[in-house]
Amino acid sequence: MAQQKKEELELTEAQIAVHWKEEEYYHPSAKFIGQANASDPDIFERFSEKNFPECFKEYADLLSWDQYWHTTLDTSNPPFWKWFVGGKLNACYNCVDRHLEKNKNKAAFIWVPELENETTETITYQELYVRVNEFAALLRDFCGVKAGDRVTFHLPMVPALPVSMLACARLGVIHSQVFGGFSGAACGGRIADSGSHILVTMDAYYRNGELLDQKIKADEAVEVAAKDGVRVDKVLVWRRYAGKYSSPTPMVEGRDYFVDDLFKKYRGERVDPVSMPAEAPLFMMYTSGTTAKPKGCQHSTGGYLAYVAGTSKYYQDIHPEDVYWCFADIGWITGHSYIVYGPLALCATSVTYEGVPTYPDAGRAWRIAERLGVNIFHTAPTTIRMLRKAGPEEPKKYNYHFKHMTTVGEPIEPEVWRWYHQVVGKGEAVIVDTWWQTENGGFLGSTLPALQPMKPGSCGPGVLGIYPVIYDEERNQLNAGSGKAGNICIRNPWPGIFQTIWGDPERFVKTYYEKYCKNKNSKDWRDWPYFAGDGATQAADGYFRILGRVDDVINVAGHRLGTKELEAAALTVEEVAEAAVVPTIDELRGRIPEMYVALKPGYNPGKGVEEKVKDAIDKLIGKVARPRNVWLVPDMPKTRSGKIMRRVIAAVSNFMDVGDVTTLANPEVVETIRRMVQAEKARRGEIPKDLSKEMIEEIKRFGAVE
Ligand code: WTA
Repeated sequence: MAQQKKEELELTEAQIAVHWKEEEYYHPSAKFIGQANASDPDIFERFSEKNFPECFKEYADLLSWDQYWHTTLDTSNPPFWKWFVGGKLNACYNCVDRHLEKNKNKAAFIWVPELENETTETITYQELYVRVNEFAALLRDFCGVKAGDRVTFHLPMVPALPVSMLACARLGVIHSQVFGGFSGAACGGRIADSGSHILVTMDAYYRNGELLDQKIKADEAVEVAAKDGVRVDKVLVWRRYAGKYSSPTPMVEGRDYFVDDLFKKYRGERVDPVSMPAEAPLFMMYTSGTTAKPKGCQHSTGGYLAYVAGTSKYYQDIHPEDVYWCFADIGWITGHSYIVYGPLALCATSVTYEGVPTYPDAGRAWRIAERLGVNIFHTAPTTIRMLRKAGPEEPKKYNYHFKHMTTVGEPIEPEVWRWYHQVVGKGEAVIVDTWWQTENGGFLGSTLPALQPMKPGSCGPGVLGIYPVIYDEERNQLNAGSGKAGNICIRNPWPGIFQTIWGDPERFVKTYYEKYCKNKNSKDWRDWPYFAGDGATQAADGYFRILGRVDDVINVAGHRLGTKELEAAALTVEEVAEAAVVPTIDELRGRIPEMYVALKPGYNPGKGVEEKVKDAIDKLIGKVARPRNVWLVPDMPKTRSGKIMRRVIAAVSNFMDVGDVTTLANPEVVETIRRMVQAEKARRGEIPKDLSKEMIEEIKRFGAVE
């Protein structure tokens, strides 16, 4: 009986019937269509399945190849796909050198410091070329790195970051940027995993008007990496103000060096771009997964660059004369692909901003847009929600005009979408809701802006050359309009897909391909659908609506945080025996983690444990992950096999129905926890309002795949 109930429960979770209200279409203006890079519907034919994989030649031909490739797609070792085999190129050459002849005087980057009284810095392609060459010479001659080595960056949003990336690319060195807001310990773990012996960081940067010490994290990072067996030989420290050290943390003699000091020796140096095979790794980017260890997603040079250039052209609709601002951090994949590599491959002008959206007030973003003449704007729902809350009328006060806007990183609520469209976009701008992941290199789902209408809350169909499908847990295909949600997969390989998880090819296969592989011995790509790990539903018109992660990842303000990583951090607190983290719905940040801990026997729930857990998370992961609450509970709800039922506590934290708990090993504890937590949350005014169907389904699904 209990078993049967459990099965029923699982079935309803895996195959939730969805009854969304269908949103209305919005259409692009004639003006937008008239100027768009993709305005001829022929393009769908060119990228149709019958032309796969050759269709991607169009993207590869946006690049300059030192040696042209002979095989578009090599599937001989699935699922380790190889793109543009036989080709050689250099990513830095493609993003910088080749633009000099005609555009050396054009702005590559316009960097806006957070302090409004500081001057905006314009970096022309010529200036970028000089800085990148000098830094490449420094890396090569002072640090001794060469093609294939890894270098870790822990940089904030400053010009030094793209300069460092491109310098590595010039040498064929694999860069690994760790989000600047992450802790030193998180950076250290990633240094060790990648085997980097060089760390590039910064003394300090502005956030919310405050000059934050970044260098201090380097000391901890080096220490943590050493414990993991990797020695960092040199720490290169860029300075926020050249010649003036803005961090109170001492420099370590013989290990730490100021980049601006070293530069004196490399002034005017030029470094030949190293011609790399298309399949050589360009960079890696860590992302959270379902186990404690983050995954180093390894991206290729040729396939990746071709894919981000092609999607920047057609989906971001970037033209040479546009002023493009992607308001994201380069420390995330969005920044790598759509602030640096994609726009620069197209010789665009890319605006970057150091600070927070609402500093010093809610009009800041719109003043930047007005002043610089930004006409393409790209950001995440969390930023949109924040700007909407802080200044719903602000955009009207400023004279800027966007032709195109992007949203990325989490599902956007239709209400928020409409504000973005009507108020930020002044009803004139087209919107693309781009669904993709760190692993993917570039967009997977979106409307093609001039050719497919927008629908709030839906990303749209698969992008050019991407053929998605939704499967249920029994591998049945869920067709468009079925009204059911399932696991979204991509049926085919594409040039931007990551090559492997650094150092762990088995985990790569297991995580992304095993679940729906039709035949492990097959060399036909059709047998190897890519499992994205997101829940989705497809409307009758073919548009996908993404419901969020099906695994244990919490998306806070567009940052993917691994539950196991957070729980592992909580368990470093001496008193804590067990920890479980769940997402709570938050109007602004999307989701905020909430931690449940059970103490070791003999420890009293005295004061201080909550703070210790929060501090451990700040220290080991970063402030973005700091839980809103830490609840000390007598025990966790568990299955009979001893697994913590996160979805039950997720329901408690979000004031939702906990469902049937009779199959648990300790059902009685659920009610105890519910009373305690909900009473306290009510007291603190944390009862969520207006939970949408999507949110309810997401919470229900949370932790369902264990
Ligand atoms: C979610 C960010 C809905 C999704 C580029 C995915 C989205 C995870 C969207 C990847 C979107 C990203 N609509 N959900 N437009 N874009 N997601 O690796 O759950 O930081 O799996 O890459 O964010 O996050 P990541």
